[in-house]
Amino acid sequence: MRGIILAGGSATRLRPLTLVSSKQLLPVYDKPMIYYPLSLLIELGLREILVISTPEHRDQYTRLLGDGSRLGIRLEYTVQDAPRGLAHALLLARPFIGGRRICLALGDNLFHGPDPPGRLRESLGRHRGCTLFSRKVTEPEQYGVATVDAHGRVVALEEKPTRPRSDLAVTGLYFYDNDALDKAAALTPSRRGELEITDLNRCYVREGRASLVELGDDWAWFDTGTPDSLLDAAQYIRTHQQLRGRPIGSPEDAAFRAGLISREELVRQSGPVPAPSSAGPRRGLLSEHRP
Ligand code: TTP
Repeated sequence: MRGIILAGGSATRLRPLTLVSSKQLLPVYDKPMIYYPLSLLIELGLREILVISTPEHRDQYTRLLGDGSRLGIRLEYTVQDAPRGLAHALLLARPFIGGRRICLALGDNLFHGPDPPGRLRESLGRHRGCTLFSRKVTEPEQYGVATVDAHGRVVALEEKPTRPRSDLAVTGLYFYDNDALDKAAALTPSRRGELEITDLNRCYVREGRASLVELGDDWAWFDTGTPDSLLDAAQYIRTHQQLRGRPIGSPEDAAFRAGLISREELVRQSGPVPAPSSAGPRRGLLSEHRP
């Protein structure tokens, strides 16, 4: 399986922050936003990952993340010339994906759950067709919502429904078999001119090949695409990192835990260790890895 992180788009909801900057490079507390999905993919066992960005921001991503070798993984980059939709971006990954399965992560979605993320890894092992991940939300009208049958098979997907049939919001992490590429290629643009990921997912729903994994209360999920959710996510990370005494969303930490880099490498890459804070639990990227 190969990973894809979508870091293109127009990020209109975060303007003027994103008039010049790429959304997925904005800080979520103490790290660039893209670090969070990247760390998640590393934790899930993905070792070859493609980052898709806008043409103007591509160099910034390569400068930030490089070829991945420092993390013991391989990173590649491609550009989407205009925001033509998530399923369009997926199509651009065809040369990178070849005949493999796909793990697609939205660059502005932040997940934090059990460590290691056992449930997600199991889903990866069992995965057939398309696997979606949902989180219970209080205002399903604001999200893409899934309805499932007794076997966890998705029977309907609705976008921002006025009368939601469930409170299960579809999050920005998707597993697909290789058919997704042909299915995406056969889609027609929506009224807003995009190849929609929901239309791709509906192809699997019609075939009875879309399953839903519900992330329980031990998972936090943020779509950090609005000023409020960006601030909520930053505050969450600050609080939970301090409580935990370990970084959340650190690719170096994820690579170290996956055995991809040594402790020395982790220490070298994470920079100087800040002094313990008198205001609370120890902070700093290396809180648990002090040499
Ligand atoms: P969205 O948040 O749906 O769209 P957006 O980033 O353009 O933001 P806004 O709605 O505020 O204008 O995108 C979800 C993720 O997918 C995000 O990380 C950007 C990425 N994306 C692409 O890579 N290509 C695209 O064509 C689109 C629409 C989004």
